Amino acid sequence: MANYFPRWTNILPLKIAICIGALALGVVTAFTYYATPKAQRVGYMPDQPIPYDHELHVTQLGLDCRHCHSFVEKSGHANIPTANTCANCHVKGGIKSDSERLAPLFDAIESGEPIKWVRIHKAPDYVFFDHSAHLGRGVSCVECHGQVDEMPVVYHAKNLSMGMCIECHRNPEEALRPLEQVFNLKYDAADYLKKNDTAAEQVASYIKDKDLDLELTNSDDAQRAMGLMLKDRWNVQPKESCFTCHR
Ligand code: HEC
Ligand code: HEC
Ligand code: HEC
Ligand code: HEC
Ligand code: HEC
Repeated sequence: MANYFPRWTNILPLKIAICIGALALGVVTAFTYYATPKAQRVGYMPDQPIPYDHELHVTQLGLDCRHCHSFVEKSGHANIPTANTCANCHVKGGIKSDSERLAPLFDAIESGEPIKWVRIHKAPDYVFFDHSAHLGRGVSCVECHGQVDEMPVVYHAKNLSMGMCIECHRNPEEALRPLEQVFNLKYDAADYLKKNDTAAEQVASYIKDKDLDLELTNSDDAQRAMGLMLKDRWNVQPKESCFTCHR
C-alpha cells in the first residue's frame, strides 16, 4: 500500500503539541511577570548601618520630613540626609553620643565618607518619576510609602507598580489634600474639616453646587469631596499616556 504521507509528518502532531505547549508557557510566564510586578518587594526591610528610627524622630520628636529629606519638594529626587543633618543633634558630647548605635555616624563625620544607607525604593531606569510634581499637587508621602511615621525601621509598604501609578492618575480625588497637610501622615479629611470652618464651608458649598451625595463627617466621603474640590480648583489632570512615565 502506498504511503500517502511523507515520513516526517509522523512526528508533526508532536511538534505542534510542543509548540503550543511552549507558547502557552510563554504567555503564562509573561502574564505573571507583568501582572505581578515585583510584588515580592513589598515588605523589603534591609538592615541599615545605623538603626535610625522614623517613629521616634517624626512622631515622638516631631521632626518634619523636610528637616532631612530637604530636596523632596523642590526636586524630582528625594535625598537621604548627610551625616551633618544628624550632627545638628548628635554631636560628640550631645544627644546619645556615647551610644554604640551612633558609632558609624561619628566615623562618617570624622572620615568624611558618606553613611552607606541601603536603598529601599527604586523605580526601574526606564521610569520617569518626580517627587515635587506630586507634593505640589497635594499628594502625600503616605500614598506611596505608607505610614513611615510609625516605622521604627523603614520598609517597602506599597508595591509602586505601574498599575498603582495609573490607578491614582485616573482617580486623583482619592488622594488630594490641602498642601499644608502633605507632610502630615496622620491627616484625615473628616477630622481636618471638623477643625477648619472655612474649609468645611467651602467643601459643603461645593457638594451642594455639584449635587453630590457625600457626608462630611464620614472620612471616605470627606476625602472624596475635598479631593474633587481641589482637583477642580487646581485643575489637576494627571496624564495616562505612556510618555508621561516612559521618556
Ligand atoms: C532626622 C532625619 C529624618 C526625618 C525627619 C525623616 N527621615 Fe526619612 N530617612 C532618613 C534616613 C537617614 C533614611 C535612610 C535610612 C532608613 O531607610 O531608615 C530615611 C529613609 C526614608 C525612606 C526610604 C528611602 C529609600 O531608601 O527608599 C522614606 C520613604 C522616608 N525616609 C520617608 C520619610 C517621611 C515620609 C518622613 C516624614 C514623615 C521622613 N522620612 C522623615 C532620615 C529622616
Ligand atoms: C532634632 C534633633 C535630632 C536629629 C536631627 C536627629 N536625631 Fe537621632 N535622636 C534625637 C533624640 C532626642 C533621640 C532620643 C534620645 C533618647 O532616647 O532619649 C535620638 C535617638 C537616636 C538614636 C537612638 C540612640 C540610642 O542608642 O538610643 C539613633 C540611632 C539616632 N537618633 C540616629 C539619628 C540619625 C542617623 C540621624 C540623622 C539621619 C538623627 N538621629 C537625627 C534627636 C535627633
Ligand atoms: C506618588 C508617589 C510618591 C510620593 C507621594 C512620594 N514618593 Fe518618595 N518615592 C517614590 C518612588 C517611585 C521612589 C523611587 C524613585 C526612583 O527610584 O527614582 C521614591 C523614593 C524615595 C526616597 C529614596 C530616594 C533615594 O535616593 O534613596 C525617599 C527618601 C523618598 N522617596 C521620600 C519621600 C518623602 C519624604 C515623601 C513625602 C514628602 C515622598 N517620598 C513622597 C514615590 C513617591
Ligand atoms: C496617589 C496618587 C498618585 C500616585 C500613586 C502616582 N501619581 Fe503621578 N501624579 C499624580 C498627580 C495628582 C499628578 C499631578 C497632575 C497635575 O499636575 O495635573 C501626577 C503627575 C505625575 C507626572 C507628571 C509630572 C510632570 O512633569 O508633569 C509623572 C511623570 C508621574 N505623575 C509619574 C508617576 C509614577 C511613575 C507613579 C508611580 C510610581 C505615580 N506617578 C504615582 C498622582 C499620583
Ligand atoms: C503613571 C505612570 C505610568 C504610565 C502612564 C505608564 N507606565 Fe508603564 N510603568 C510604570 C512603572 C512605574 C513601571 C515599573 C513597574 C515596576 O517596577 O513594577 C512601568 C513598567 C512598564 C513596563 C515593563 C513591565 C515590567 O514588569 O517589566 C512596560 C512594558 C510598560 N510600563 C509599558 C507602558 C505602556 C505601553 C504605557 C502606555 C499605555 C505605560 N507603560 C504607561 C509607570 C507608567
